[in-house]
Amino acid sequence: MEDLIKRAAQDLAEAKNVAALTGAGISVESGIPPFRGKGGLWEKIDPMEYAHIDAFMRDPVKVWNVLIKEMKDIVDQAQPNAAHKGLVRLEKLGKLKTIITQNVDGLHQLAGSTDVIEFHGNFAWQRCMDCDRRLKTRNVDMSQIPPHCECGGIFRPDCVFFGELIPPQHLSRSQLAAAQCDVMLVIGTSAVVQPASYIPVISKEAGARVIEINPERTPLTGAVSDYLITGKAGEVTGRIVAELERLL
Ligand code: APR
Repeated sequence: MEDLIKRAAQDLAEAKNVAALTGAGISVESGIPPFRGKGGLWEKIDPMEYAHIDAFMRDPVKVWNVLIKEMKDIVDQAQPNAAHKGLVRLEKLGKLKTIITQNVDGLHQLAGSTDVIEFHGNFAWQRCMDCDRRLKTRNVDMSQIPPHCECGGIFRPDCVFFGELIPPQHLSRSQLAAAQCDVMLVIGTSAVVQPASYIPVISKEAGARVIEINPERTPLTGAVSDYLITGKAGEVTGRIVAELERLL
């Protein structure tokens, strides 16, 4: 792994415009379980039963009780880890411009990253299904499930459920960032959910170097990524940034 760390630091030293696509794996070391693989949330509950917009519309109480309250408990106490902080350092070094995250935990912003596209929305806000009023998740009264807005409508997380579109402005800005970068860091994603997993393909086709950080291979490995650094996001990202600072 040492030589790949050095290679990534070299690639970043030469880069002018780095972008990153992150997934649940970058937040695992912050105590947030991934969706797939060992310990994954979807191993315990069926995403089509609890994370699909049709399931929510059919039975919001079930989705609030099983998915949303669990997510709230987990996200409320999570803190950024060395990987989130490493990306903040890359931004301060003038390398990283935009993070496209599939995560809804807000940890990139909490760590200090300033340009984060929340591809699947975020869990910090709830939105009324009738009047569109937004309320911070931590300020929502959970004593009544599902929580109701003053207008009588029910609140839903400001996340993108399965069966829903990516907010068009996030999709277009992500595609542009992917097409304009010269290095795309792909950190902690299983790369199985579209259209997010197509983002690195756009970068590759635009001539960027694609670097994967993941303990495991993904469909991008060997097909789109120039190389995979096998390891945990916190450790690997921290070591790459430390090596980069020696080069600069
Ligand atoms: N460091 C880096 N990567 C890790 C770590 C770690 N410590 N631990 C696990 N991983 C990797 C796993 O190997 C896997 O490839 O993180 C990835 C997690 O994959 P998923 O759980 O599928 O997460 P993600 O790719 O973000 O899922 C995409 O699917 O369910 C939807 O909306 C949800 O945004 C999510 C989307």
